[in-house]
Amino acid sequence: MQRQSLIIDCDPGVDDAVGLLLAFASPELDLLAVTTVAGNVSLERTTRNARILRQIAGREDVPVFAGAERPLRRDPADAGDFHGAEGLGGLETFEPDAPAAPEVAAHAIVEAVMSRPAGSVALAVMGPMTNLALALRAEPALAERLGPVVIMGGARSEGGNITASAEYNIWADPDAAAQVFASDCRITVLGLDATHQVRATADRIAAIQALPGFCARTAAALLRFSQDVERRIVGWDWAPLHDPCTIAWLLKPELFRAVPCRIEVETESDLTRGHTAVELRVDAASARHHWVAEADAQGVFDLIAERLERLP
Ligand code: RIB
Ligand code: CA
Repeated sequence: MQRQSLIIDCDPGVDDAVGLLLAFASPELDLLAVTTVAGNVSLERTTRNARILRQIAGREDVPVFAGAERPLRRDPADAGDFHGAEGLGGLETFEPDAPAAPEVAAHAIVEAVMSRPAGSVALAVMGPMTNLALALRAEPALAERLGPVVIMGGARSEGGNITASAEYNIWADPDAAAQVFASDCRITVLGLDATHQVRATADRIAAIQALPGFCARTAAALLRFSQDVERRIVGWDWAPLHDPCTIAWLLKPELFRAVPCRIEVETESDLTRGHTAVELRVDAASARHHWVAEADAQGVFDLIAERLERLP
């Protein structure tokens, strides 16, 4: 098996948590690091939550590095309504055994990528892009050296989920997102247009709940929490599966259809900050960005179930 070296940058967060469990259960992925950022909840909580998840998955071999505790310029704004005050829905949190590594996330990303062959390290970003933006500032050669970058963020035909015009990850740090999309990184973007197709319905959650193991039951509880929140706040009887789609894309890209594009981000207007302008009229051969337009929802959930069954 050809293993893919991978760094996961995240703000767990209920859906980040399911994405981490999927990654921890997938032997195709050589997980070099999990880096954390403030977003859904504070940096202290996102870092603790990443450590909790690696402990319950039995993956304390994967180092966790804490990163930015606030956006590049904008004021911090969490999403506690959708993730619970502690960031893991209704799960009981605890102080994990193993600490985070001492290095700062941005430096850990630079070191991991620059010390390995060009193009060999992939990066999955599941939260505000502050850490990647800081890493690019620290090492300008990073963009060229990075392998595939897959990002959950943005919206085109779906409109926004934190404002009428913006999706949360881009809205939370629009300056970081603008910097990343203006860099030479080669990026596949799973925005709301894709993740709103991948719906955690009652049947799909029940199928995960029926799996053996604490991790599967934990994932089901996290998804049920999201379903309840979406029902209460948005009126849907399902929860969009956002962040795990980045890992599913790395594992089975055939479950998705992406189109070449150019993405730019609005950073100045309070009305439209974080809006992603996804321009599809580009030259396919030279496009650095690809926008995921379609997702095989059942294929994603079948993959998640098959992997979660492997966890303790
Ligand atoms: O808009 C969805 C994104 O915002 C997900 O990454 C979720 O975890 C929140 O951070
Ligand atoms: Ca997230």
